[in-house]
Amino acid sequence: MNSAGEQFNRQAARYAVSEAHASGASLRILTAWASLERYTMGLDIATGPGFTAFAVAEFCDTIVASDIARRMLDQARIIAGERSVDNVRFEIVDACDISYPDASLDLVTCRTAPHHFTDVGRFLSEVHRVLSPGGVFLLCDTTTSEDPEVAAWHHRVEVERDPTHVTAQTPSGWRRDVTDAGFEISHTANTRVDMTFQEWVERSGTPAAAQVGLYREFAAAFRGVRSEFGIRRLGEDDFEFYWPVFCCRSVKTQCP
Ligand SMILES: C[S@@+](CC[C@H](N)C(=O)[O-])C[C@H]1O[C@@H](n2cnc3c(N)ncnc32)[C@H](O)[C@@H]1O
Repeated sequence: MNSAGEQFNRQAARYAVSEAHASGASLRILTAWASLERYTMGLDIATGPGFTAFAVAEFCDTIVASDIARRMLDQARIIAGERSVDNVRFEIVDACDISYPDASLDLVTCRTAPHHFTDVGRFLSEVHRVLSPGGVFLLCDTTTSEDPEVAAWHHRVEVERDPTHVTAQTPSGWRRDVTDAGFEISHTANTRVDMTFQEWVERSGTPAAAQVGLYREFAAAFRGVRSEFGIRRLGEDDFEFYWPVFCCRSVKTQCP
């Protein structure tokens, strides 16, 4: 298992109670796009506590909730039971090495996770491989600024907060990479995920010393960063802010 697997095994119970993951604009967008069709076999990659898998389950005969972290799947099983979702299976699957045959799925979803993947190009080519022609790929992920200075600040704080963060892509980068992987994009949406500084560092189990450093980074953030991520003080010892989120619906149409 890679270090992301270890990190998310440790923090699984925190993610299972995260409102930012259990609801939010990106989940509504992805669910609305999923509802445009009916699917035989869907796969939710990096499902975490399963919220995306459960949201699209009603449009699938079977949905597989998959993740690299076993304890995330334990949390997802509990939530599936609470919600009486009975057409879901749980499997360990690495996003960059998907253990499914070619053209065996007609829906793949992935939300709020690719910024942890070590090889996004490989992830996209694996999604393309396992989808049948005409298969639908629904992607949402936190993105970063098109301004390199703002993006560098964003990258620094994300890695300090959780060293398994790899890269937040820009919206234009996602459009290019998804198209280059052989998909035709039919819908895109830009939204955001709102949170507070304290809930952000607690969810990831960031050590206390690193929290202090991060707090200073937020307090000293330059104007471009403050306006791009909506950073505002909240009381004495907190900030509210958001990360931008890019969502896209695409269809497998060609060989990359
Ligand atoms: C923020 S959580 C996902 C949230 C979830 N998709 C949702 O919609 O609420 C990120 C997940 O990515 C998983 N992950 C990270 N790297 C992975 C990989 N290479 N393959 C599969 N899952 C991975 C982690 O274990 C974690 O459960």
